[in-house]
Amino acid sequence: MKIVVLAGGRSTERNVSLSSGVKITNALRSKGYQVALVDLFLGKELAEGTNIADLFTTEPEPEHALLIDDDILTDEKINALRTDGTKGLFGKNVLAICQAADMVYLGLHGEDGENGKVQAVLDLNEIRYTGSGTLASGLAMSKKYSKEVFEQNKIPTAPFTTTKDIDIAKADIPFDFPVVIKPSNGGSSVGTHIVQSYADLKAALQDAFQFDDEVVIEKYIKGREFSVAIIDDQVLPPVEIVVTSGWYDFQHKFQANDETKFITPPDIDHATNEVLANLTRQTFKALGMQNYGRIDFLVNDEGAFVIEANSLPGMTPLSLIPREAEAVNISYPDLCDMIIQSKLRIYEAKDNH
Ligand SMILES: Nc1ncnc2c1ncn2[C@@H]1O[C@H](COP(=O)(O)OP(=O)(O)O)[C@@H](O)[C@H]1O
Ligand SMILES: [Mg+2]
Repeated sequence: MKIVVLAGGRSTERNVSLSSGVKITNALRSKGYQVALVDLFLGKELAEGTNIADLFTTEPEPEHALLIDDDILTDEKINALRTDGTKGLFGKNVLAICQAADMVYLGLHGEDGENGKVQAVLDLNEIRYTGSGTLASGLAMSKKYSKEVFEQNKIPTAPFTTTKDIDIAKADIPFDFPVVIKPSNGGSSVGTHIVQSYADLKAALQDAFQFDDEVVIEKYIKGREFSVAIIDDQVLPPVEIVVTSGWYDFQHKFQANDETKFITPPDIDHATNEVLANLTRQTFKALGMQNYGRIDFLVNDEGAFVIEANSLPGMTPLSLIPREAEAVNISYPDLCDMIIQSKLRIYEAKDNH
């Protein structure tokens, strides 16, 4: 079977994605798949006489390709990488190479890969890919609309309101401080702030509005943080995220530190485990997600609250899903294989409908 691993792209997490792309490629090759690793943004120059089929191989990529360049990527730096004069997110020959594959494995990170737009382009070009479809991806990306869906489906989530106005009145916030504010369409805790009092709100909103024109204000939930992965209808054991100093912000997510610990399986009772597993299934279904995903939770004495759903969760070996899989003896290559096989079954069921 021929697989394209699509990685890179144009987001600030481009380098993280390229590193996971190599990891996914080598994992799938070790399982016998013929794989072509393609950078979504840079594409591939095809020299005269090159046959697209020859790009699909089982030879592992060199280990050094796994190293993450920790240069902070600005739009300017990313755009300067493309020197062939072409425009747009899809680099040269990307669609043609994807069309030669049986399935595209989406190894992208960040907004462009996660918000459903890449999925729409692939759908319209009749290219099969891993993960959720366009609508569910866009819905999961929007904190505002996904929380509305949670409420409609009686999925507990932190009380919230939204604002497009930086001068929101105190009376328009229907719960007490502290609150958490986040850009509605965002990720990696960028632009997210825990705000202790109304006096501090404006400065935090100012920062959040840099990333989106609508901001979600939600009640701060004091509790333990968990994340739960789901593949098809198989829920993996939760992972608890314990931050010993501060909270799970961008630094704690992406920079090596001793303050963030991941515990899987965590020390929770059977009933809590069941609640998390059931809410994970309900959330996945309510948003219309498919194939796989990851749901984030906060848990305290009042119960479990869904914070958000991730339709294209990180797949670096240190990411949460690979850790959860390992806890039930699913190796990284097996996990990648399971994701492909599950999505193939979904497409086959649709074809036979
Ligand atoms: N209502 C809340 N109460 C307390 N902490 C929160 C709340 N919402 C989010 N957080 C914290 O902020 C982090 C990022 O929020 P999240 O909604 O998961 O957005 P992102 O897409 O940036 O991961 C979470 O991992 C959690 O630590
Ligand atoms: Mg999150």
